[in-house]
Amino acid sequence: MSDKALDQVLQGDSLEIMEDLPSESIDLVFADPPYNLQLSQELYRPNMTRVEGVDADWDRFDGFREYDDFTRAWLSGCRRLLRDDGGLWVIGTYHNIHRVGAILQDLGYWILNDVLWVKANPMPNFRGTRFTNAHEILIWASKNKKARYTFNHHAMKSLNGGKQMRSDWYLPLCTGSERIKRNGKKAHATQKPEALLYRVLLASTDPGDVVLDPFFGTGTTGAVAKRLGRHWIGIEKEARYVEIARKRIEAITPDSVEPEVLNVVRERPPRVPFGKLLEAGLLRPGEELYFRGDRSLTAKVKPDGRLRINGFEGSIHQTGSHLAGGSPCNGWVHWYYKDGEGQLRVIDALREVVRKGDPDRVTAA
Ligand SMILES: C[S@@+](CC[C@H](N)C(=O)[O-])C[C@H]1O[C@@H](n2cnc3c(N)ncnc32)[C@H](O)[C@@H]1O
Repeated sequence: MSDKALDQVLQGDSLEIMEDLPSESIDLVFADPPYNLQLSQELYRPNMTRVEGVDADWDRFDGFREYDDFTRAWLSGCRRLLRDDGGLWVIGTYHNIHRVGAILQDLGYWILNDVLWVKANPMPNFRGTRFTNAHEILIWASKNKKARYTFNHHAMKSLNGGKQMRSDWYLPLCTGSERIKRNGKKAHATQKPEALLYRVLLASTDPGDVVLDPFFGTGTTGAVAKRLGRHWIGIEKEARYVEIARKRIEAITPDSVEPEVLNVVRERPPRVPFGKLLEAGLLRPGEELYFRGDRSLTAKVKPDGRLRINGFEGSIHQTGSHLAGGSPCNGWVHWYYKDGEGQLRVIDALREVVRKGDPDRVTAA
């Protein structure tokens, strides 16, 4: 990739500009394309303030056929630009995402997940004619079925408090100081929250990767990419948004660009049997553990690393599952021990101490 395009907002039609970019030069595409909302009338809140919806020219198409042709063209362009192990995310609503999904499958992309962005604070359906539309759908796809795409599973798990990240993401709309305004009004009708892009980029790229956003808008993708040490290329046809995006990204100084800080764990951490905690002296035989931090639900630790509760014996997972009525249970995050000051702490902290080989850290755990 020539440095001319890297970390730049390119102004123009993405279908044309993508033609000038070299094949197989992009690691990830994030696309937030026009929705084809086809709004026929203005929308007002009950207090008669006008809803700043998507009624701009960039969202106008002459019917589904034109929209499909446009979708096929940009998805084909992205496919040429993607490296073989690259990935693509596209976000949309019920107006367009199902058409986009079918077309990307027809083109040979392989859908890995659809993810629901569940809006913590959605706009109500003011007329009361339908359900509140409270989510958008992201499709995550690899270039083809066999591609070795990037997925930072452990980083996602860690971001999610040790539990596997699910495909329903509860995140608020872009509001407050993050929302870019001009003359007191939203600068762009569909600015996405940085939290959404943070998750997407952390999950499916590594530091130094090149991320292309062919519908850049206010540059949310570039802003987050810059913070996370990824390269980015934004294409946006409207001059006013290009200016906003450039200023926004220029104003960002990443706190760190060191690879050792920005790299995330790629491999599964070493397995630690629960009994190791006893061998290391971090827990003692006979000591009490508390289920989900509840001081009335206790089990005794046996010398072999099993737990005993009301005559039932088993591993930390089996006893947890027993107490949870048979549901699967990751005992590491559900059992608590009492530290030297009488505070209840999750036993997963002790597992980390064993992994780091530093039992002195137990008091800080
Ligand atoms: C849904 S918005 C993207 C908003 C963006 N994700 C953000 O957070 O600000 C789509 C953007 O694509 C731009 N656009 C639409 N068609 C385009 C095209 N053919 N080439 C380049 N940009 C286009 C629009 O001007 C609009 O800013």
